[in-house]
Amino acid sequence: MKSTTCRLDRFISQNSTFKLSDVRLLLAQKRILVDGQVAQSIQHRVTQFSRVVLDNQCLQDHQPLYLLLNKPQGVVSATKDLKHRTVLDLIEHPHKDELHIVGRLDLNTTGLVLLTNDGAWSRTISLPETRLAKTYEVTLSKPVTAEYIQVFQQGIYFAYEGITTQPADLEIVSEYHARLSLVEGKYHQVKRMFGFFQNEVLALHRVSVGPLNLAGLELGQSRALTVDELAAIEAYTSL
Ligand code: URA
Repeated sequence: MKSTTCRLDRFISQNSTFKLSDVRLLLAQKRILVDGQVAQSIQHRVTQFSRVVLDNQCLQDHQPLYLLLNKPQGVVSATKDLKHRTVLDLIEHPHKDELHIVGRLDLNTTGLVLLTNDGAWSRTISLPETRLAKTYEVTLSKPVTAEYIQVFQQGIYFAYEGITTQPADLEIVSEYHARLSLVEGKYHQVKRMFGFFQNEVLALHRVSVGPLNLAGLELGQSRALTVDELAAIEAYTSL
């Protein structure tokens, strides 16, 4: 995953009173530390998560955060809202205000929502080319039939965007219940796909995103991704 980087001399000039041309001398005087090491080159790449210290003063110290939340109904996938509780209201973390949402769910949809402060990570995992499957349990107002499986595989034309949806896997669980896996996330995509058959979605729950699932998390609870989960996501994105 490529994160946005900045040259060390530019970073120092933007975050201190020193000029770009002063930075060589600061390096020679060993006054700059990046991630605990004395910096050697003005060309060193600084990321948003590099810890940079100049003359014992910390200029930047952000930890990357990756959280998984089990969103209840009636909670909005936004960081601020005047009317409803937001996903951020459910999270207790000292740096939660840095977080943004990776792939929103509708107000009444429940299930897995990812939040992070790492823009490069969220951009990469949201790309359809990454082919990270998002799986939903769907409750329908009318019986679901085998015909849907083929139609969802072929793709449905969305006139508003002028696109045909990517092949999606449908498993019929029972007459009114199905499991749908998508590799993209168009606006109201699941509801619109079943809408093709005039079959209203009564309940929608996202159970997994790629290798991540909600095991052990009650509705409303959140937790940090584990090292193994981050590595599993990385394996998808470095294909
Ligand atoms: N598709 C929808 O229609 N709604 C969601 O919340 C997610 C996917």
